[in-house]
Parts: sequence; structure tokens; C-alpha cells
Amino acid sequence: YEAQLDLSDIEKGTYPYYMLKEIDDQPTVMRRVVQEYTDSFGETVINQEIIDHVTDSDRIYIIACGTSYNAGWVGKAIIEKMTNTPVEVHLSSEFGYNMPLLSEKPFFIFLSQSGETADSRQVLVQANEFSYPSLTLTNVAGSTLSREADYTLLLHAGPEIAVASTKAYTAQIAVLAVLAKAVGDHKGNQSSLDFDIAHELSVIAAVMETMIDEKMVISQLVEDYLATTRNAFYIGRGVDYYVSMEASLKLKEISYIQAEGFAAGELKHGTIALIEEGTPVFGVVTDKKTAAHTRGNLKEVESRGAHNFVISLQSLAKETDQVIIPDVHPLLTPLVSIIPTQLIAYFATLQRGYDVDKPRNLAKSVTVE
Ligand code: G6P
Repeated sequence: YEAQLDLSDIEKGTYPYYMLKEIDDQPTVMRRVVQEYTDSFGETVINQEIIDHVTDSDRIYIIACGTSYNAGWVGKAIIEKMTNTPVEVHLSSEFGYNMPLLSEKPFFIFLSQSGETADSRQVLVQANEFSYPSLTLTNVAGSTLSREADYTLLLHAGPEIAVASTKAYTAQIAVLAVLAKAVGDHKGNQSSLDFDIAHELSVIAAVMETMIDEKMVISQLVEDYLATTRNAFYIGRGVDYYVSMEASLKLKEISYIQAEGFAAGELKHGTIALIEEGTPVFGVVTDKKTAAHTRGNLKEVESRGAHNFVISLQSLAKETDQVIIPDVHPLLTPLVSIIPTQLIAYFATLQRGYDVDKPRNLAKSVTVE
């Protein structure tokens, strides 16, 4: 695999930072996932043994850390919808030492960009002791988690060099969606049969490009608000909450703004006490079911002085929303709503004068428990 690397993959060329290049890479990565995992008829191409194991299992356990963990939550939403199999998402560092009661036929999915994260590996070692079937989704062929799991699906995102993960997150979601589709089709589930994954991911790639083209709009949008703030919040419900978790991780890890992602409805049970005059609050509004409720929560924080930014889908947008995303398949909205949040983190970090690619205290791959 290494030998096939295109030099342009590991050089940042004219980009000032790898992170910006990797944000820009995402449409290409989506198209690569379509190429690698679907055929010319748009059917999924996934090892049948993996499909059989997942179909046979009564519960899927997704195990991951950091950004990969956040991708796992989005994956859960997609997999449950397509396959009707319950999915639990766990932090590796918690699961290993406080293992929940497992179902009778668990199937383990390890999400790891590097494939080397020690916390995740210690869970895999335990899963292997019980001979539970396992699959690793990783960007690195031949990595430890890939070698030690029964099966591997590669992310095909190309090397990710910036510490803050971007394209591995969207690649993980895309590959999990392909897996969900493959299993759902195998089970004959209508929601899956109706889901043209190759087409939908191609639409995603195009919409990602549109969002990425709006870089400078995002830069200007946050300039006055994030350059000096101490804290910031992302709120949303359902998948918008999952995106909020990842968006806030991105922002905090590189800009050092104390950022948190919250379930919008939970805000009033404590966190709203932190809202002060001018506190930036980002609302993610891409789900018809919950849009009105999240907007209600945004009103609540606004009346306590928050400065709101709304990232919404075109079909749900209000004139005052700052970032509007063209509509995509409802299960895949996180693949596009995450893009402006990656750019927000990037520009906030530049504006605050920090090194985007090498945040303090963090490592790209964590090989200690
Ligand atoms: C480190 C990185 C994160 C990453 C996490 C999990 O903390 O800084 O960006 O999300 O590890 O890494 P993995 O390689 O297992 O996805």
C-alpha cells in the first residue's frame, strides 16, 4: 500500500497547513470510497463473510477513541436504520475495564484512523480471547488493529498528517454507510434497498465541494467572535448532536477554546448557566424532526446573551442562518454539516495564532493506554 502512495498525498504543496489540504481532500475521498466499495451497477462490494457475520449478530459494538468515536455515533444512526440491528458505541478506554453485559452474538467494529490506538487494541485483545468476530475500519493497511481483527475495511482516505482528524472522520462514516447498505440489502430491508449509496455519496462529494468553496465566508464569519472568546458551544439533536460532539472536539483541540458539544435539549439542565454576553453558540439544524426544538433552544441561549450561529439545511433554513447546506440524503447530512465546523476550527486557530497541524500536548496516534 505504501508503495502506491502518490507523493502529492504526503506533501502539502501550496497549502499552508495539512489540515486545510485534508479538509479539501474530502470530496475526493468520498469518490474513492464509491470506487472501492461499489460496482458499476451501484451495488456494494464488501467481503461476504463480513456481511454474514453482521447479519448473524444480534448487536454491534463500535469501539473507538476521539474523532473515531464521534464517527461511530453517526455510524450507529445509519447502521440501525439500514439493518435494524442495535448498535452500541463505546469509548475504548472505558469498555476495556468496565465491560458492559454483552449480547449473545456480538459483532465488534473497531474504528481507528491509525489502527494503532492502544486503548482500542486492549479491547480487541479481549474480544479475541472470547473469539468474538471483529472488523477494523482503518486508514492504515497492516496496522495492529487491522492485523489482529478478523476483517479489515480500509478507509482509503490517504495519509492524514494533521493531528486534528478530518478526512478520516468522513471516510469512516462513508465506509460504515456502505457496510450498512450491504447488510441491509442482504437482509432485504426496504430502507436499504431504496438507498442508492453510490449516487448519494457522489452527491455528498459535490456538496462538500460547495461547502469547501465557502472557506473565506467561514473565516470572516467567526473572526470577530472566536479570536478572543474563552469558550464556545455546539448544540444539536440526534445526528446533529453527534456532529456537535465532533465539531467541538475539533475546535477545542487546535484553537484551545473551551468548546463543548451538547444535546440541545439537555442545555437547560445545567450548561445554560455558562452562557454569558457574547458566548458563541453554534446550532446544527439538519433534521426536520428536531429543527424547531433546536431553534427553540437557540432562542433560549440568545436571550441569555449568546451570539448564535446556525448551520442549517437549505430546506430548513431561515434567512438569518449563517451557514446553509444544500440538501443531501437525510442519513448522510453529517458528512456535509461537519465541513463548516472543520473550517471554523481551522480559521479560529489561525486567528488565535496557533499551529493548526501540531496542537500542544496531542499526538496523532496514541500508543499508550
Ligand atoms: C488521537 C488523535 C485523534 C484521534 C484519536 C483516535 O487522540 O489525536 O485525532 O481521533 O487519537 O485515533 P485513531 O487512530 O484510533 O482513530
